[in-house]
Amino acid sequence: MTIRFDGRVAIVTGAGGGLGREYALELARRGAKVVVNDLGGSRDGTGHSDAALKVVQEIEALGGEAMSNGGSVAEYDQMAEMVARAKERWGGVHILINNAGVLRDKSFAKMEPADFEFVIRVHLIGSAFATKACWETMREQNYGRILMTASSSGLYGNFGQANYGAAKLGIAGLAKTLYLEGAKNNIKVNTLAPTAGTRMTEGLLPGPMFEAFAPDRVVPAALFLVGDDAPTNQIVGAGAGVFQAAYVTLTQGALLQGDELSPEGVAAHWAEITDRAGEIVPNAGGEQAMLIATKLQRG
Ligand code: NAI
Repeated sequence: MTIRFDGRVAIVTGAGGGLGREYALELARRGAKVVVNDLGGSRDGTGHSDAALKVVQEIEALGGEAMSNGGSVAEYDQMAEMVARAKERWGGVHILINNAGVLRDKSFAKMEPADFEFVIRVHLIGSAFATKACWETMREQNYGRILMTASSSGLYGNFGQANYGAAKLGIAGLAKTLYLEGAKNNIKVNTLAPTAGTRMTEGLLPGPMFEAFAPDRVVPAALFLVGDDAPTNQIVGAGAGVFQAAYVTLTQGALLQGDELSPEGVAAHWAEITDRAGEIVPNAGGEQAMLIATKLQRG
């Protein structure tokens, strides 16, 4: 069945270029009314331009409906204002794709505290602010689809991206609590870890890879994850037409008692503690304690 977005209002942050622009265009082609948010800065987050307006014009040229918004995700008031404008014109907000982002890469040894803070602010605080601005509306509507943008750098680490990686895993963590809190109001929250040839990866992805990883090849995952039949609490990898699922898992572990309840005991049982046989994927934090309680009962 064709996935359509007729009657839906979608906000895509950082949609003036790269992946966000592709999401916005395809959402509009499939019937959504789209808020194209972007402050139009450079890769490191400085400066402004009318990048969002250009994407709105592209959508209108396709016969779609869109409005531009030049607000910064890092400013809560600007996000609240953006949501108010969308509701005023279109009556609601159903979809939010948190996509805006910046880079200030440096090894941790050379990274200025201000560059750590700035990257966390745009990605993590920005995703929380844009989401918070839509949250009450989605709860009232009993409908919301939120897509967070993480990164392999956050899930697995990447040299030179301590600030960015911390923000990105933080975003995945934000999704893991919001999916629980949104469930009773039909708000589904997922996380995408894309890989794409954009200005963000220019000079990082080698030439031929840059082309194979065209940003439009990530779009199918993003749109599925904000559709009516989207799953929730998934972490999805996407790049060059390959789609993956990532999980935060927990091993069965080992119960140590008596003399073994010691650092030496942990050392002696390390193989059992880290054994991945019988590993689980908890759906909420409390499952760690439940697994422990079960182990205690078994003795
Ligand atoms: P991009 O640089 O083309 O897009 C990011 C957009 O966010 C830019 O248009 C920028 O102006 C906008 N932006 C920056 N700060 C903003 C703010 N405070 N408020 C509103 N908009 C702001 O880069 P790309 O690659 O399209 O990145 C999109 C998302 O995907 C980012 O979150 C990025 O971290 C993530 N990502 C991208 C990967 C890739 O391989 N391209 C890999 C992993 C994650």
